[in-house]
Amino acid sequence: MRRDRHLRNRDTWLGHLASGVAAILVLSMAAGCGQQRSPSGSNVTGTSQPVDLESAKRGEYLFNAADCISCHTDKEHGGARLAGGRAVETPFGAYYSRNITPDPVHGIGAWSDADFLRALRRGIAPDGAPYFAAFPFPAFTGMTDRDILDIKSYLFTQKPEPTQNKPPAAGFPFDVRATMVLWRALYFTPGPLQPDPAKSAEWNRGHYLVKAVSHCGECHTPRTALGGLEHDRALAGAQLPGPGDKRAPNITTDVNDGIGSWTIDDITALLKVGIKQNGDFVADPMSDVVEGTTKLTDPDRKAIAVYLKSVPAVPGKSN
Ligand code: HEC
Ligand code: HEC
Repeated sequence: MRRDRHLRNRDTWLGHLASGVAAILVLSMAAGCGQQRSPSGSNVTGTSQPVDLESAKRGEYLFNAADCISCHTDKEHGGARLAGGRAVETPFGAYYSRNITPDPVHGIGAWSDADFLRALRRGIAPDGAPYFAAFPFPAFTGMTDRDILDIKSYLFTQKPEPTQNKPPAAGFPFDVRATMVLWRALYFTPGPLQPDPAKSAEWNRGHYLVKAVSHCGECHTPRTALGGLEHDRALAGAQLPGPGDKRAPNITTDVNDGIGSWTIDDITALLKVGIKQNGDFVADPMSDVVEGTTKLTDPDRKAIAVYLKSVPAVPGKSN
């Protein structure tokens, strides 16, 4: 059943693509987006960039909140920490995460602050190529410059690993970076996220963590046939692509399908120790998310809960 739906989604996507692909290729050539990327930035200077340790400490906190490690470490195959190569599944195929250690050749050791900011804020590589949205830059774009650069400082204190990056395992045309030009026009709104002055500081902090840093919607929000988030059904639950038939449940305040009956304490307990309202431990991949949220402060976990309790109820749907 689910496979059929994915195939159907794929057909729809192919249909759109057939009419759009020529235009995209012309556009992308005009915009200078290469399909091939060089493995590192153009001005290789080594890893001698000075690191501000205070900034690295703040960055480590955000790195945990964002769970960068679970996508960027190929734990299943014993891959080196943060060296990439983990397959991130989408309905269009798998995209391998990349080496984000400070190795100057295979990792990001030669990147400037501007390179790193552009990658997370705009989803664009140092050579100008667009990233695939398996990298949740559409969420990270909401982060502040300072938070993004603190994460860079932290990454630059980590061990360099000379692990080579792998090309995507998605079929044509889903492996063509130029297709992202169309996708970005439809679905990408660059940040940073603006605070809502009518709301409390706690709510704004929760909103920032949920939407930008911890990218909860990347799993919990349903997607269109083209893989964009359905913002009017934010956090209403979604089937996760890939093996295992996993589903990220509805975490809106809907009382039947969502977490409308959960208290603030129920939510913070989940984020702190991984126990659900019914007493069960939360399963993978939410358990990876919790490995990060368990390291947050109590006020930050509470801010997430306060924000979630304000999300309008959206009844579930079977996707
Ligand atoms: C859901 C999985 C996922 C998460 C979470 C994730 N990434 Fe990635 N990331 C990817 C994938 C997949 C790519 C490769 C995208 C491509 O090839 O277009 C990538 C690419 C990157 C790149 C580009 C590297 C290069 O060589 O061009 C950087 C930098 C990066 N991620 C940093 C981060 C940071 C920092 C975090 C946490 C704040 C993070 N990522 C969280 C999946 C993820
Ligand atoms: C990588 C995908 C992913 C991300 C990112 C993610 N979740 Fe989840 N989440 C899941 C899955 C899958 C489950 C179901 C786990 C289970 O069945 O035990 C889940 C379960 C939950 C539950 C329990 C709901 C219930 O009805 O049992 C809550 C609450 C929750 N997530 C909140 C969050 C919040 C808040 C964030 C962001 C901080 C987040 N999730 C980020 C995938 C994700």
